[in-house]
Amino acid sequence: MAYDRTIIITGGAGFIGSHVTRLFVNKYPNYRIINIDKLTYAGNLANLKDVEDKPNYEFIKADICDYENIRAIISSNDVSGVIHLAAESHVDRSIVDPFTFARTNVMGTLSLLQAARDYWEPKGYDGCRFYHISTDEVYGALELTKPEGDPSAKECGGGPFGDDFFTETTRYQPHSPYSAAKASSDHFVRAYHDTYGMPTVVTNCSNNYGPYQFPEKLIPLFINNIRHRKPLPVYGKGENVRDWL
Ligand SMILES: NC(=O)c1ccc[n+]([C@@H]2O[C@H](COP(=O)([O-])OP(=O)(O)OC[C@H]3O[C@@H](n4cnc5c(N)ncnc54)[C@H](O)[C@@H]3O)[C@@H](O)[C@H]2O)c1
Repeated sequence: MAYDRTIIITGGAGFIGSHVTRLFVNKYPNYRIINIDKLTYAGNLANLKDVEDKPNYEFIKADICDYENIRAIISSNDVSGVIHLAAESHVDRSIVDPFTFARTNVMGTLSLLQAARDYWEPKGYDGCRFYHISTDEVYGALELTKPEGDPSAKECGGGPFGDDFFTETTRYQPHSPYSAAKASSDHFVRAYHDTYGMPTVVTNCSNNYGPYQFPEKLIPLFINNIRHRKPLPVYGKGENVRDWL
């Protein structure tokens, strides 16, 4: 079958990537979807069991840092879109091993950008797009303006929470090696847009939770620990507030 376009999804065997891959494979049968994933500890092809036999789906085990290989995949498959989710994504691990985070999140993103540019620039980027999935953690932390028990925080059950929001113009202020690496990758994506005219989109969403999430992340970890009657580890004094999608 001739497909309308071919899109690469990186990190498609991970938590969010598997949902994005499933959505695209099912919703766009006229698009060919290539899932590129290195299958680190966080990647699991069982997350995609229900779509693995679909004719418009293909899996390629590859490292996004392998520029020559990614370049060959993009050109030999006439790829016109990249949805980039592959990353080292666990903050606690980044504190122990920041180099791996810089390698995958920064150099991996740069390698993908350059490989896409090599193929797209001669065509004038016509119909091409690079969509980079980032995190709100690049903005740092918001002020806790309504501490626990604040009577004016009724709509939030008495707090604690803050009045402020991150917006597209909030200053970057990453605090962990994870968010520093993601911030750096965002800057490279913007640089490819501004310098080479690559059509790019960067999104900076907050925490996600749901099916297929690796159980090291807070909500599945807490659920697991509660089920097995284990202690619930809390950062600092337990005053930090997070929100989830
Ligand atoms: N989970 C969240 O709450 C959240 C929130 C905001 C943004 N994000 C971003 O969304 C994206 C996906 O997050 P997630 O929670 O699904 O992550 P995840 O850790 O569940 O999945 C990451 C996937 O990337 C793959 N991968 C890692 N290194 C690779 C490499 N070098 N080459 C190819 N594949 C590689 C892994 O095998 C895995 O399948 C990440 O970029 C993350 O920064 C996540």
